[in-house]
Amino acid sequence: MSDQHEQWDIVSSIGFTALLVAAGRAVEGHQDRPLVDDPWAARFVAAAEPPSTVPVRPDQTWELSDPAPGVQDEVDAFWTMMTSYQGVRSRFFDTVLDRAVADGVHQVVLLAAGLDARALRLVWGPSVTVFEIDQSGVMEFKDEVVDAHDGRPTCDRRVVGVDLRDDWAAALRASGHDPSKPTAWLAEGLLPFLPADAQEQLLRTIDQLSAPGSVIAAEHFADAIGMLGHHRGMAALTAPFGVDPAVLASPEERTPAARRLDELGWDVATRHSPDVARGYGRELGPMPDGTEFSSDLVTATKG
Ligand SMILES: C[S@@+](CC[C@H](N)C(=O)[O-])C[C@H]1O[C@@H](n2cnc3c(N)ncnc32)[C@H](O)[C@@H]1O
Repeated sequence: MSDQHEQWDIVSSIGFTALLVAAGRAVEGHQDRPLVDDPWAARFVAAAEPPSTVPVRPDQTWELSDPAPGVQDEVDAFWTMMTSYQGVRSRFFDTVLDRAVADGVHQVVLLAAGLDARALRLVWGPSVTVFEIDQSGVMEFKDEVVDAHDGRPTCDRRVVGVDLRDDWAAALRASGHDPSKPTAWLAEGLLPFLPADAQEQLLRTIDQLSAPGSVIAAEHFADAIGMLGHHRGMAALTAPFGVDPAVLASPEERTPAARRLDELGWDVATRHSPDVARGYGRELGPMPDGTEFSSDLVTATKG
């Protein structure tokens, strides 16, 4: 089972990406007209006791020891782009989940929940059960911080510590998920890290566990994740953590989630994230090759 797979905590390997995106949400929360207000994000970063400053406000920068010429600028450009993207995707997925709950979906599954604080910051009420799935080490860290700050979920929050390459469906069932009722699923910042067969298994299992009226929201990155893995700015800021971004994402080819969900009979809608950003009055910054950072934000419903 999970012994076969690499395990990480919140400051190592893929676990560190959960801290990175939380820091991005914290920064976004201090912008004018923020797209997300996540007071938990800075608490998680502080509790992780990072070896060097992880910015949680717009006036903070990543501390680099002796950067090569130009690298500090690349770090700053990467971070500006990353924090705006976190705002955009957070707002987009908040809206999808809020709408699903308002439409009567009372089970929400956060796949690879990481430090997602929706169960604490969105007001869904006790009739909504939120299942948070991630590796045990990540969830233990998160629970320690939530407990230390006396966090009170607005819903029935259930933590499911399991690897998504293992039999996560059994763990979800054991935590009380009811496949006869509709579910809202979220795969935010997850799919690039899964091997292709695990992504395929994930989507098939979601389909099997989804009653009519279920909703899924996910991100598909085409080239952007590969490019990020080789972004000098990103590599420079993850280096003090011993994290090499070039090896985090799975390089395996896979069928894009939107196409796979369509094949499985879901009603799929895809938005290009730069367009979503412009709808919020934002621009996503450029990548080093001058192209705009982009992903597809996919939502699908099961009839
Ligand atoms: C970029 S973070 C995103 C976290 C969260 N969804 C968010 O947007 O704040 C990626 C998360 O995926 C989780 N993850 C990646 N592969 C996983 C796997 N095989 N099993 C469980 N969790 C996984 C990591 O532990 C990490 O928390």
